[in-house]
Amino acid sequence: LTLAVLVSGNGSNLQAIIDRIEAGEIHARIACVISNVHGVFALERARRHGIPTVIHANGAFATRREYDNALVEVLRTHRVELVVLAGFMRILSDVMIGAFPGAVINIHPALLPAFPGLHAQKQALEYGVKFSGCTVHFVDNGTDTGPIILQAVVPVMQDDSEESLSRRILQEEHRIFPESIRLFAEGKLSFHGRQVRISS
Ligand code: GRF
Repeated sequence: LTLAVLVSGNGSNLQAIIDRIEAGEIHARIACVISNVHGVFALERARRHGIPTVIHANGAFATRREYDNALVEVLRTHRVELVVLAGFMRILSDVMIGAFPGAVINIHPALLPAFPGLHAQKQALEYGVKFSGCTVHFVDNGTDTGPIILQAVVPVMQDDSEESLSRRILQEEHRIFPESIRLFAEGKLSFHGRQVRISS
């Protein structure tokens, strides 16, 4: 399975995916790492593992559609079969979803449908939930609304800060994101309406 991983920041999820592939646990290849911003550490992580990097800068295109059309071109050039959004801080238009139906996945640091959008960990703290977690889901035309593949739960401690909760959630992200890719690569995901079923 040929992947592209789209990033905008530190790239710890990218690193977890690289590590699991290099350990031989996921039969996939990362054809390229694409960032919408320059100089993020995720690009350095890709370079250290000999993975081609592409900067597809926010400001380089006049409209969202033009950005996405050009992005699809890059992905087609690399023969990408699964688009992995790993902390990619852009909303994709229907151009991207139309080009890769059922083949764009995202990680969100909350238990969707709770706390969609930005600063999900802070939303959870301010709401006062006792548990939060993370969600890997297929990307559809909404924001954080696509069919859910895997979720993981973490407790929220009374003295948690946004940082301490984010750190605890991130540990689980690094487990369920690679696992979701492994399941996809092994053809073990199927749809039953909105429900994603995992075959053993
Ligand atoms: C993660 O918390 C992810 O849930 C969110 O952005 C963060 C990305 O972190 N979408 P990293 O760049 O993978 O370290």
